[in-house]
Amino acid sequence: MTAASTAEFVWVPKASTIAREAGARLREFLAQGVETEYKGDVDLVTVADRTVEKLILTRLREAWPDHGIYGEEGTREGLEREFRWYVDPLDGTTNFAHGVPQFCVSMGLEQRRPGLGAGEDGILVAGVIYDPMRDELYSAERGSGAYLNGKPMHVSRVPELGEALVATGFPSRKRHDSPNIHFYHEFTLRSHGVRRAGSAALDMSYVASGRFEAFWEFNLNPWDTAAGILLVEEAGGKVTDFAGNPYQLNSREILASNGLIHDELVGLFKDLFAGRNLSPIPTPEEYAARRHARAAATP
Ligand code: IPD
Ligand code: CA
Ligand code: CA
Repeated sequence: MTAASTAEFVWVPKASTIAREAGARLREFLAQGVETEYKGDVDLVTVADRTVEKLILTRLREAWPDHGIYGEEGTREGLEREFRWYVDPLDGTTNFAHGVPQFCVSMGLEQRRPGLGAGEDGILVAGVIYDPMRDELYSAERGSGAYLNGKPMHVSRVPELGEALVATGFPSRKRHDSPNIHFYHEFTLRSHGVRRAGSAALDMSYVASGRFEAFWEFNLNPWDTAAGILLVEEAGGKVTDFAGNPYQLNSREILASNGLIHDELVGLFKDLFAGRNLSPIPTPEEYAARRHARAAATP
């Protein structure tokens, strides 16, 4: 962060220090190795998730004793207050548990005016995402732009899906209910490719920094998305649901893009949900039959 840009920020400097400390703890846990537990089905959790959430909670309390905190690993504190942090201490737990260096700390700050209903959103005012394995710190405050390690970052200028690299993720709960593999297939055929890297917060950071043109996922939670939404918006991009409506924090679908390809993507979701223009894909059985026929025809 340059001296000039630091001076403009209210929340980002301290939040960045907290995210960096949290990320350093994750690096230590990764180096020492941790046991994996199951929250459900294939929903993994480790001592690192819990310890780092406690660390962030302590540091946020020290920095802003009057703020509320909503953390993935169970923290629910002061949710009636004007400011509320959404904290994912370790986004990408499955990667982490397997030693794959693609995970991050995510912290988003919402400002809620008095009288707002429990299901109503306030305004996202700050977001910090830290990738401890690459030492990349993504940060934004509303109206002040978005930054990667202190340098301004912007979404890409790619104008169409056909030239785009996009990303998605799959749920670790109720996996059988997810239709996302159909969307994965269609987006794969219509773009430069789809990455499924395992950290939604980093995927959104990559949209904000122009590495990906878009990201979509079903059934994320506010601790996954709060910081990333502000990063994308402040970097010049757009975040909505799949129909193009304004994104709500408890929304069950998120579409983030560089803005330029957003309408095209919304149109594609509309088509796909209506069963229009689906690309046929051979079943494994059909493919095996073709392979068998090719082998039989070869002298
Ligand atoms: C998960 C990651 C993953 C996404 C899952 C999330 P977690 O968060 O963001 O990329 O596909 O839907 O639950 O459990 O590692 O914090
Ligand atoms: Ca997460
Ligand atoms: Ca997590």
